[in-house]
Amino acid sequence: MSADRLVGPDPAEDESSVEVTLRPQRLGDFVGQERIRRQLELVLGGARRRGQPADHVLLSGPPGLGKTTLAAIVASELDARFRATSGPAIERPGDLAAILSGLEPGDVLFIDEVHRLPRTVEEVLYPAMEDFQLDVVVGKGPGARSIRLELPRFTLVGATTRAGLVAAPLRDRFGFTAQLEHYAADELGTIVRRSAGILGITLDEAAADEIAGRSRGTPRIANRLLRRVRDFAEVEAEGRIDRDVARDALTVFEVDDLGLDRLDRRLLEAVIDGFDGGPVGVGTLATVLSEEASTIEDAVEPFLLRSGLLQRTPRGRTVTAAAYRHLGRAVPPRDGAPPGLFDDPSVPEG
Ligand SMILES: Nc1ncnc2c1ncn2[C@@H]1O[C@H](COP(=O)(O)OP(=O)(O)OP(=O)(O)O)[C@@H](O)[C@H]1O
Ligand SMILES: [Mg+2]
Repeated sequence: MSADRLVGPDPAEDESSVEVTLRPQRLGDFVGQERIRRQLELVLGGARRRGQPADHVLLSGPPGLGKTTLAAIVASELDARFRATSGPAIERPGDLAAILSGLEPGDVLFIDEVHRLPRTVEEVLYPAMEDFQLDVVVGKGPGARSIRLELPRFTLVGATTRAGLVAAPLRDRFGFTAQLEHYAADELGTIVRRSAGILGITLDEAAADEIAGRSRGTPRIANRLLRRVRDFAEVEAEGRIDRDVARDALTVFEVDDLGLDRLDRRLLEAVIDGFDGGPVGVGTLATVLSEEASTIEDAVEPFLLRSGLLQRTPRGRTVTAAAYRHLGRAVPPRDGAPPGLFDDPSVPEG
């Protein structure tokens, strides 16, 4: 039931073509991530001057922050072909060998979810990344032998949402590593205005800021909320989008002013109403909410933790005083308050 959340992490199938049109094509159109942009400018500029393929690039960070976008930008800035695949799609060493031997000099090979490459495939990738050589085994049994093929020089761009799961030897073979971070509200505002321009949507500054503020620091979500606000405006407001229209639209779609959706709020309410604010184990919470524990952990909790509404303690999850306030509830008195509640520094003592 949560796969289609408006604020969910994954690109919805029906929107993927829109995502492509909204993708910045050049480093100069890419909003935010100043430091990474500057560093990439140098890495790519240096390679271009030398007339050589750039070093391998590893991009990590939460879903929807622009990893795939940046990977494609690497190719366009290098005037190189962009070939894309993903970790789970490469099941056997032979699959990788086929991809690598099809490369042309200078190509950018993008491997999404690079942490999900099988170990046997990784081992073929190491010499390919390092020395542009491919070891293939020909024959079977005692007559089998390994032959070494030369590969064209290429640039590998790996992306991962789970940097910690990238094996160290693989990580070490990337010459440049960047960790994308959530965007500031003003950057998201710029992204919303840029996307509105591309999609031919008229909205004023305040409306763009309103959408940006509810986008959880994530461009993909900002673009998605923009499209829902457009739907609402076309039906209810003759297409004109000001702050009130944006607010009304997002209220209809149940995305509140912090960017929480129904499932987020249900989780907080469950902890407050069912467990006096916690602590409660994630398995129990999942049962109460009729969700998978993995959904709760991967797709719901991260934003609540980041927003300071929820905490993880050794004994389970507790809500913070900010959660009570956000839901318009009275913050319980200090005596008998759930442990962790008053760790929130914004709550005055006494
Ligand atoms: N810095 C940015 N400026 C403008 N638009 C952006 C930026 N970053 C991302 N976007 C927009 O957000 C959408 C999602 O970005 P992208 O697909 O690159 O994210 P991702 O990090 O690859 O996500 P996932 O981990 O799910 O693969 C893109 O369609 C793009 O339009
Ligand atoms: Mg991606």
